[in-house]
Amino acid sequence: MSKTFTLTIDNTAVKAEPGWTILQAADAAGVYIPRLCGHKDLVPHGSCRVCTVLVNGRPQSACTTPATPGMVVDTATDELKEHRKRLIEMLFVEGNHFCMFCERSGGCELQALGYRFGMLSPRYPYQFPVREVDASHPDVMVDRNRCILCGRCVRASRDLDGRSAFQFVGRGPEKRIAFNAADGLGGTDIEAADRAVEVCPVGAILRKREGYRVPIGQRPYDRDPIGSDIEAKAAAAAGAGEED
Ligand code: FES
Repeated sequence: MSKTFTLTIDNTAVKAEPGWTILQAADAAGVYIPRLCGHKDLVPHGSCRVCTVLVNGRPQSACTTPATPGMVVDTATDELKEHRKRLIEMLFVEGNHFCMFCERSGGCELQALGYRFGMLSPRYPYQFPVREVDASHPDVMVDRNRCILCGRCVRASRDLDGRSAFQFVGRGPEKRIAFNAADGLGGTDIEAADRAVEVCPVGAILRKREGYRVPIGQRPYDRDPIGSDIEAKAAAAAGAGEED
């Protein structure tokens, strides 16, 4: 007997499986909930709060909250959209994000969310922090100026690569990414093909000698807004329904 159950997301009944989070149920239903620290292959971290939704009227992070039968979820009220936009603006001013000079432009999830939310200019003062770049590894570099402390690399290196090459150190404004080697990134056993490198949502971890392999204008979010792949599922299902 199927254990599939139903919940309501944005006034539409959707199916979910036991063990799914709200984010997974929304993804399967073609409803895009923005996210930054969340990643489909990583254990949820629940730190960025970009995925905040209303569950029975109360704010919850969609990536960490289990979907349950009968749950009523709103993902895109005006208040939630404003909340997400403010978070993205704060991330932009908290680091040093100069998109026009960044190799990840067009593939950066932070930049793509800024576009998706219609961010023109942050309403908060730029902090211009002084941050370190570590280019001591032969194949990989880390630019902390662009790091948004999502922790994807920490989880991927630990859980997918089996290396635990990355970790957080410091607190508050001093919090930063560090490595499991006293002499920096070059002292770790990280490799360019590691998932920890791939899952970085911004341009903080980059492979060397790959710059601009994909030309500007042909990158994923140059063509389609972030979340389009998920929303295409709902459009495809609606189209199939019309044909039936
Ligand atoms: Fe859910 Fe970051 S994606 S808190």
